[in-house]
Amino acid sequence: MCGIVGYTGVQGAAPILLEGLQKLEYRGYDSAGIAVMEDSRILVSKVTGRIVNLCEKTQNGAAVPGSTGIGHTRWATHGAPTEKNAHPHLSNDGRFAVVHNGIIENYRALREELISKGYVFESETDTEVIVHLMEMYYHGDVKEALIRTSNRLHGSYALGVICSEEPGKIYAVRESSPLILGVGVQENYFASDVTALVNHTRNVIYLEDGEFAEISGDQVSVYDCLGQPIPKKIARIAWDVQAAEKGGYEHFMLKEIMEQPGAVKATITPRIRDGRVFFEELKLSDDELRQITRIVITACGSAYYAGCSGKYVLEQLARIPVEVELASELRYSNPLIDDHTLLIAISQSGETADTIAAIKECKKRGARTLAIVNVVGSTIAQLADYAVYTWAGPEIAVATTKGFTTQLSVLYLLAVLFADRLGYLVGRSAEMIAALQQIPMYIQQAIDMNHRIPRLANKYHKNHSLFFIGRNTDYAIALEGALKMKEISYLHAEAYAAGELKHGTIALIEDHQPVIAVCCNPAVMEKTMNNIIEVKARGAEVLALTFRNNQKIVSAADDFLFIPDVNPVFAAVIEIIPLQLLAYYTAKENKCDIDKPRNLAKSVTVE
Ligand code: AGP
Repeated sequence: MCGIVGYTGVQGAAPILLEGLQKLEYRGYDSAGIAVMEDSRILVSKVTGRIVNLCEKTQNGAAVPGSTGIGHTRWATHGAPTEKNAHPHLSNDGRFAVVHNGIIENYRALREELISKGYVFESETDTEVIVHLMEMYYHGDVKEALIRTSNRLHGSYALGVICSEEPGKIYAVRESSPLILGVGVQENYFASDVTALVNHTRNVIYLEDGEFAEISGDQVSVYDCLGQPIPKKIARIAWDVQAAEKGGYEHFMLKEIMEQPGAVKATITPRIRDGRVFFEELKLSDDELRQITRIVITACGSAYYAGCSGKYVLEQLARIPVEVELASELRYSNPLIDDHTLLIAISQSGETADTIAAIKECKKRGARTLAIVNVVGSTIAQLADYAVYTWAGPEIAVATTKGFTTQLSVLYLLAVLFADRLGYLVGRSAEMIAALQQIPMYIQQAIDMNHRIPRLANKYHKNHSLFFIGRNTDYAIALEGALKMKEISYLHAEAYAAGELKHGTIALIEDHQPVIAVCCNPAVMEKTMNNIIEVKARGAEVLALTFRNNQKIVSAADDFLFIPDVNPVFAAVIEIIPLQLLAYYTAKENKCDIDKPRNLAKSVTVE
């Protein structure tokens, strides 16, 4: 998601910025720009699309002379991927240019305040408030303006700032968004990650949240949020460039698994205001909501399983009947859809051919359509009546992880929103909101508490076939867990509703057959427990996924994966984490091409 770079020194800044942005391309982006300062003149150049367009536009940097500058790759969040919305943004007086990675949660209020004071906005971005705040608070001291501006911002941000009053200086601020400083000889840098720097320097300073840096060619000074200098150590990077692109992780998939606490936070946090769920993009009145008699969820692959899981929560909380249909089936099923149907289409890429066709089919029949999408401006986002973005950031590994958990998080948010507006949440609203807000923390705990997974993968990876069982929400997660396993480790993995075992599948259980039992839903735990006993009696080896401290399950199974003690309504989004890790480490044992599994594409744009 978005990348920023900054340079000041003795060389031309633009070529170095362009090179740095190219190195950050892997993060995903849809527009880019640089601002370079010569004497006290700031020149800005921006493009939509690829960095090569920016190289062309600037003649590889020759058209923007100057040895101090900042650059940005933008992954559209607030506002479409256009040149106007691309960074850097300029202040009205032309003094400041700003690049930003992250989300400013309170930008709406700040924007209104700034407009009322006469500031003119050129873009739809949340970022632009920052540059106008800088102008407002600037009275001859950039540092002070930066501190006062930062104090007004809620959310996550890594900022790069230049000011025409201070040629040769770049400023950088970090708050809940990655940012490091690069230390060279007579030249210094900042960047979202080391990828953009390693060709120039391996000496870096890691900024902490709340810290900011004042950087000139021969000096790097770091301050706390009150402006007090902080001594910082210079660290030496040992990574090669390729490893750095993955943030030090061996694979994008692992990186994306680890990113989930932050990604889900970015999905949930901006949608909670004053203790209630709020979707700016969902202009559905209470009357219109009451007229919806049925929800149909459609999607493919993991997105479909997110729908299967979300169905339970939507029905339980909002009391609206929900059906989940594979898009490839729905489109040819002559579906019974009318204008009282809300069609929810889910897609990470927003370009999946079957999902697009299913939306078109249902629109023809009068359905209102809501898309849960990650890629801004994608076909599905544009096709649907309402586009709700997941804000997961770019997902590069073919096997989705943060795409899935952010989709499920949006379904949870919708369930709480609909329940609240239909009057089903009386007395429970605060509990539900608190539980939603805790999800990112529990995802982190689920990552931290399962350090035994590589050993389990080593134990199970040689099996030819794995069964996953579960009931209700646990069954939906078993489906997604099995899909993860098969697509990256190439093991045969099948998920069954645990209650279906006796209707056929149990015939396949024999000595040492691994069965992964998802057993977290308290309403059906006893029942799944009985299924564990049944398969064990036939020689199965059971790996149970359950709540930490669930002694009953622990004593019945052979091995365990744990999740923390979360609110059971939203447990599914936590349950998938250990299963993602299990699939990852199993694939690693099997020496598979984890990020690009055979025969698969990230975006399935054909039928
Ligand atoms: C999941 O790991 C897969 N790569 C795949 O099932 C994917 O979820 C499916 O193709 C749907 O893609 P979409 O979310 O981009 O529509």
